[in-house]
Amino acid sequence: MSAPQDSSGTSANIDALLQETRRFPPSSEFAAHANVRDEAVYQRAHDDPEGFWAEAANRLDWFKRWDTVLEWNAPWAKWFVGGQLNASYNCVDRHNATSRRNKAAIIWEGEPGDTRVLTYHDLYREVNNFAAVLLDLGIKKGDRVAFYMPMIPELAIGMLACARIGAPHTVIFGGFSAEALRDRINDSQAKLCVTADGGWRRGNIVPLKDTTDTAVADAPTIEHVLVIQRVGPDIRQVNMKEGRDVWYHEAVSRESRRLVDPEPVDSEHPLYIMYTSGTTGKPKGQLHTTGGYLTGVSLTHEWIFDLKEEDVYWCTADIGWVTGHSYIVYGPLANGASVVMYEGAPDYPDKDRFWALIEKYAITILYTAPTSIRTFMRWGDEYPAKHDLSSLRLMGTVGEPINPEAWMWYQEHIGGGGKCPIVDTWWQTETGMIMITPLPGIVATKPGSATRPFPGVEATVLDDGGNPVPNNTGGNLVIARPWPAMSRSIWGDPDRYVATYWSKYPGLYLTGDGARRDDDGYFWLLGRVDDVLNVSGHRIGTMEVESALVSHPAVAEAAVIGATDPVTGQAIVAFVTPRGGYTPNDALTAELKEHVVRGIGALARPKRIYYTMELPKTRSAKIMRRLLRDIAEGRVLGDTTTLLDPTIVSQIKEQYESSEG
Ligand code: WTA
Repeated sequence: MSAPQDSSGTSANIDALLQETRRFPPSSEFAAHANVRDEAVYQRAHDDPEGFWAEAANRLDWFKRWDTVLEWNAPWAKWFVGGQLNASYNCVDRHNATSRRNKAAIIWEGEPGDTRVLTYHDLYREVNNFAAVLLDLGIKKGDRVAFYMPMIPELAIGMLACARIGAPHTVIFGGFSAEALRDRINDSQAKLCVTADGGWRRGNIVPLKDTTDTAVADAPTIEHVLVIQRVGPDIRQVNMKEGRDVWYHEAVSRESRRLVDPEPVDSEHPLYIMYTSGTTGKPKGQLHTTGGYLTGVSLTHEWIFDLKEEDVYWCTADIGWVTGHSYIVYGPLANGASVVMYEGAPDYPDKDRFWALIEKYAITILYTAPTSIRTFMRWGDEYPAKHDLSSLRLMGTVGEPINPEAWMWYQEHIGGGGKCPIVDTWWQTETGMIMITPLPGIVATKPGSATRPFPGVEATVLDDGGNPVPNNTGGNLVIARPWPAMSRSIWGDPDRYVATYWSKYPGLYLTGDGARRDDDGYFWLLGRVDDVLNVSGHRIGTMEVESALVSHPAVAEAAVIGATDPVTGQAIVAFVTPRGGYTPNDALTAELKEHVVRGIGALARPKRIYYTMELPKTRSAKIMRRLLRDIAEGRVLGDTTTLLDPTIVSQIKEQYESSEG
């Protein structure tokens, strides 16, 4: 890996961000009532991290207390060893046993406007019934269950039902293609796939069951497909394969409804697998376990979002990503929060849907992505202005660096002109929980900075030689100590876990992100320094898109890069060498884009495709993506002397520049 300054244009980011000097301390009103008011918490956690996390673990209900807080044989961590608990018990049963039983747990709104509110008691009943259905379908502790679902309450219910019986789930985002779904099911060896007859998106039906049918035709471990009826047969008929497919509403309406005791599992029992893109074509299944994960997400959720009993909390992510797992399902429900869940698109029926939801449910905490904020900015101030957003008291962002301009717009137009603190939270699928973030009652924010590591988290910035870089210099962001919610391994591939994260700096976790620290010790995230793109906050490996492209008969070779995009952060740009007999033209471009969508999903659709007879390669035949990035960013070309044929770059550059306008 090369240093971030010369690999992804981050030196330009550093310059821009260096000029950002605005500071926003919390109001005295907010600070006075914040959950965390004492700065000393940082020092305390730093001096005794294990004591700090052990205290945090006390917020959970354990069937059996742990013997050892941490067993650390780098890079293998075990947290709360000897302890036994159940995630579903912690998210549901224990609230059902208090006056929270009548509190709203999930406030759900479908895209067409239909609504459901589940109290903690409702959730308790539903999770038990779902768990009974799982058992009746032969799912046992340790079996994997895949979910390919719209954003409906049954997704959260189903995940909690899995946790109840100790069956790890793997949720695959509903925007992935059949091939992507199949690969993830096969990698996890799931026995059951839970899906729906459809979901609403921008007034259309996402045909999840049809896609599942294609995927599981090639997934030999799948015994059953459990289908939730979301849209109904008048809107969408689906095929039910005899013996394999089961309607959930039929399974649950028979004699099956019953209470299912939560299975006490070891603290390190797998809770879920979440696939994420890496630098090869094959996605990595991040394995998250129970006790440490739940401790981490529950504590961070309460402290960072300053959760109060009466809050109405809305995270706009899809549960198909880690953000939804940690901060829609496990963190908030472990904390007994009221969680808003919305099924559809932000511009349906109009571009003010989010603001209408905030007004309707008097939402107090909003957690969303910079790419959405930039989209709202583009749509215009009039949409939020139409609604009463005064219920909001805190807002968060996640998924990608937020540019100061978007940060300021968010504060001004959504946050009532500075009334709401903004928490810019940096973390990853691998980290499980938020790692760098303000604590909103203590830390003054700076637009564009995720500020400080959470108490107990030790982050640092190193150069390629492993030395700490001076302040205001970019380098590799590294986490120097184990933390409870960390991924424990890559499912089925521990060697890759070691190679990817723990071998550049042995014993230290390599994040793959570039960062710099300023003179106040604040962290400024500078984007990925590896071959992973961040498009609208979604991680996509360049290799995944390249393999999808070269699987098309017209493509001999492909190189994919991320070009800076004002709305999506990065946009996918592909350089393609066509095979003999194929003529590059608009029809081929359209076909190749669709081909990538079929292979991965719409989230990976290339924005632009360029054709070239040759890709720039080193003498050892390595594609020089860095030069392609320079071209796409309009930068002065870096060193081309190592190229096999230096004239190629200027040819590509000419073509790029002539087609751009
Ligand atoms: C990026 C999402 C800057 C980063 C939770 C990271 C961010 C990747 C931020 C993880 C942030 C996430 N500021 N960059 N606040 N949050 N990222 O696994 O590049 O989908 O490595 O997890 O998103 O994406 P993932």
